[in-house]
Amino acid sequence: MNILVIGGGGREHAIAWKLSRSGRNPRLFVAPGNAGTAAIATNLPVKADDVDGLAMAARDHHVDLAIVGPDGALAAGVVDRFRDAGLPAFGPLRAAARLEWSKSFAKQVMAEVGVPTAAFRVFDDAASARAYVREHGAPTVVKADGLALGKGVVVARTVEEALAAVDDMMVRRVFGAAGDRVVIEEALSGQEVSVFCFTDGQSSSPLVAACDYKRVFDGDRGPNTGGMGGYSPPPFWSAELERKVQERCIRPVLAALAKAGTPYTGVLYGGLMLTADGPRVIEFNARFGDPESQLILPRLENDLIDVVEAVVAGKVSSLRLRWSKATVGVVIASGGYPGDYPTGLPIAGLDHAAEVATVFHAGTARKGDAIVTAGGRVLIVVGQGEDLAEARALAYEGAARISFANAHYRRDIASFAGERA
Ligand code: AMP
Ligand code: GLY
Repeated sequence: MNILVIGGGGREHAIAWKLSRSGRNPRLFVAPGNAGTAAIATNLPVKADDVDGLAMAARDHHVDLAIVGPDGALAAGVVDRFRDAGLPAFGPLRAAARLEWSKSFAKQVMAEVGVPTAAFRVFDDAASARAYVREHGAPTVVKADGLALGKGVVVARTVEEALAAVDDMMVRRVFGAAGDRVVIEEALSGQEVSVFCFTDGQSSSPLVAACDYKRVFDGDRGPNTGGMGGYSPPPFWSAELERKVQERCIRPVLAALAKAGTPYTGVLYGGLMLTADGPRVIEFNARFGDPESQLILPRLENDLIDVVEAVVAGKVSSLRLRWSKATVGVVIASGGYPGDYPTGLPIAGLDHAAEVATVFHAGTARKGDAIVTAGGRVLIVVGQGEDLAEARALAYEGAARISFANAHYRRDIASFAGERA
């Protein structure tokens, strides 16, 4: 069986790694992949949003099944294109992935079916958006409607910050067309948690949960990043909370999309905030999370190929997912990230680290015999244990064994000091 994983970050390394452990011995391709995926799969030099290039590569390599990682590929319609070519692909069609590529669409669906979320308004012109901000004050949250490489959300503490965000998005158009429409919403507070279910559009699996850390420095200080680490399952996650989130936040949305004739299939990712008034949805993503995949896939006891096939074949109701143990992941980043940073630095200690933890590559490349840095987030080192404490000890033991010039990682991942855990 030939499987193509689309994407090239830590998430795609984790997906390929999990597939490589299948008893069904698949042949794996990753487009474009990284130095980590190169060790377990054949990397193909095709960009993740090059829909035609991917379809061509899939035909050339006799791909039986494709798994889509990044949001951009889904928004570009890669699943639609594969389906038209008769190639099974895991992920929602573009019309259902709209839940992620249009924040106003997601809000509208949630409002229609009564899913708890922040109160919001949608604006297509800057003057009305500004007037609304002045009238409603701060704190408030300004979001570009479309995809903005994870940077389209501004949690504004002051009216000035919110007005600046409106100008950046709608007037200066720093995110291009993605910011021509904005959502302005109520600022919520509480513990954040990411939840995931597999769905074929009709049935959905129970949720698995993980938490990540967005700020670059210990104690949640410094600028936002793509994620500096995380853990699964969260200590506060319970069967009761799972049921509540499933019933109030997930199933109504899946039912609404099915009813609209655009059933959602693949993995649905809910970003939630556990507020004093109960769980509320911050956003939906139409794919696996990064770094959450690196935390949840090592916990999945099922063969991932069986799971993906059940989703594609519409047989999720017969799936029995089993999640075991606990994981903690520590991201090793380039010094300077999320600002400017150097690349091409040789990385030492990867094999030594792999004796105690699983090392997923995010921004790496091969240079001769060496593996070198090639991005801001370079690696994520995942420890797995009977509980979070054991997983954490192994993750940090692994991280300590890896070195490159000016490497930086947070020391407080899953330490729960001062957190509501
Ligand atoms: P996103 O880029 O959509 O993942 O959002 C980035 C982060 O912004 C989220 O993880 C939250 O921490 C924060 N955020 C988004 N919406 C809200 C909100 N309504 N209230 C408070 N924080 C929010
Ligand atoms: N963990 C954030 C994301 O995958 O978008």
